Amino acid sequence: MAAESAPPVEQMSSVTLNDAVEEAQFSKRVLIRTILGRPDGGAGVAGQKVRVGGWVKTGREQGKGSFAFLELNDGSCPANLQVIIDSSVAPLGQLVQTGTCVHVEGELKVPPEGTKQRVELRVHKVLDVGAVDPAKYPLPKTRLTLEFLRDYVHLRPRTNTISAIARIRNALAYATHTFFQKHGFLYVHTPIITTSDCEGAGEMFQVTTLINDAEKLEKELIKNPPPSEADVEAAKSLVTEKGEAVAQLKSAKASKQEISASVAELTKAKENLSKLEERAKLKPGIPQKDGKIDYSQDFFARQAFLTVSGQLQVETFACALSSVYTFGPTFRAEHSHTSRHLAEFWMVEPEIAFADIKDDMNCAEAYVKFLCQWLLDNCLDDMEFMVKNFDKGAIDRLRMVASSDFVRISYTDAVAILEEAAKERKFENKVEWGIDLASEHERYLTEVKFKSPVIVYNYPKGIKAFYMKVNEDNKTVAAMDVLVPKVGELIGGSQREERYEVIKDRILEMGLPLEPYEWYLDLRRYGTVMHSGFGLGFERMILFATGIDNIRDVIPFPRYPGRADL
Ligand code: 4AD
Ligand code: MG
Repeated sequence: MAAESAPPVEQMSSVTLNDAVEEAQFSKRVLIRTILGRPDGGAGVAGQKVRVGGWVKTGREQGKGSFAFLELNDGSCPANLQVIIDSSVAPLGQLVQTGTCVHVEGELKVPPEGTKQRVELRVHKVLDVGAVDPAKYPLPKTRLTLEFLRDYVHLRPRTNTISAIARIRNALAYATHTFFQKHGFLYVHTPIITTSDCEGAGEMFQVTTLINDAEKLEKELIKNPPPSEADVEAAKSLVTEKGEAVAQLKSAKASKQEISASVAELTKAKENLSKLEERAKLKPGIPQKDGKIDYSQDFFARQAFLTVSGQLQVETFACALSSVYTFGPTFRAEHSHTSRHLAEFWMVEPEIAFADIKDDMNCAEAYVKFLCQWLLDNCLDDMEFMVKNFDKGAIDRLRMVASSDFVRISYTDAVAILEEAAKERKFENKVEWGIDLASEHERYLTEVKFKSPVIVYNYPKGIKAFYMKVNEDNKTVAAMDVLVPKVGELIGGSQREERYEVIKDRILEMGLPLEPYEWYLDLRRYGTVMHSGFGLGFERMILFATGIDNIRDVIPFPRYPGRADL
């Protein structure tokens, strides 16, 4: 924390005593960070009257109940403000419970010698209290496991760990926009609902209203059953009868009035019949045609999905605005129960025109380094929390990555290294040219062999997506994966195949239908351009930075097989 390196109070106070502590702009209080985040740890603003709000981390009554200490946190920084309340100001029993929300006014004071705080708040007035029943509050003061907290995703932001991760996540998002904006990239919002499968891996969640429609109809038909055949027959007979009545009146030269009254009855009978016939056609269940689901009756009149990647759509903008990126949620219906996979995760995807695979690697490396340096510059207090509680090496790792060059090796060389290593250690998955590298292989390369981020490039075309540029050897594609310690694959990217004939053949070769990709092929038909891009798994970046073990703890609301709370 900044307090550790602060100069002695006396030196600071002459410079800072006059600084009025700034109120938060859109709420009636001072952020705790504004007080404790100062280089002097808050000592320089002692004597000032402030209003603060937050949740009690720990509280204890002292002096036989004559006053209480509260450790108050408002999420603006990892540090707590020490708050002292006299029993003459408010009843203390309620205030000291962990989880209680308090909004108070008081004076900042320099605490007595020998305490670790540089400043504390003496409360004059309690404005509001959000009480907690300690017998029921699910998050007691004791140390809770991250796994336990997953059952309380709505309350876990109140914990030190989840709030530190939230601030780091926020910082990485800000850093992402800063990096790409600084380099002239345009932020493009790609769709969440899509009709194209980017990775061609068939791991998409379907978006459909056919099921709700079917359920609605089923309920409606129970309440209001469809007409029976006999009902329809009876309605038909009535139409015949009324028709005959009109004919009879006409041939009997009845009065105009009589005829038109009879015609009106006939019309009514016909309308009734057509209504009944319509309803008789209603069938419960999902609409079918030729033995298949009839998607022409679905919301979009075709099959639609949640996107697995914004790449294909962002390419349309790269092929017009040249340097672009998208940053949004992506969805994969893979049944991976690992600590590195989510069903909903966020991806940062730049796409650069006039760039080859080398430019792509340079961009990926510069971006990851920028993120690491950003955390060192802007989130050191939260990173120190991570070092203390989760991963001793987290800050060193950021420093190392921010300052050293990434190793770059071809897939072929990587396999040779792994084959050599396999003579001495056991991998669960066999290594040979042509396999997709397993997580254990990736981690061996980055954690054991090189002890540094590694970019592996030129993968066999058989294991990579259709859009990747086929190399001259016709065996490999210009793909690249960035592998980092703790995580394995952090980034996947490639140069894109810009040759129309080649990419068309690749789509067919992979057994994919051409029709949904026609628009994508247009980018190659008209004004095609060399271009490249990549996708960084945002949660994997947070895992890498924080040293947290499970990806479910670095996204606010994790979704994975069997689980989607809130
Ligand atoms: O390697 P992937 O599948 O690449 C793409 O989707 C490309 N279309 C990106 C592009 O070129 N624009 O995914 C990119 C990254 C992976 O490297 C990994 O970090 C992350 O996304 N990722 C996941 N993160 C969490 N949970 C999952 N199920 C993930 N699948 C991929
Ligand atoms: Mg990949």
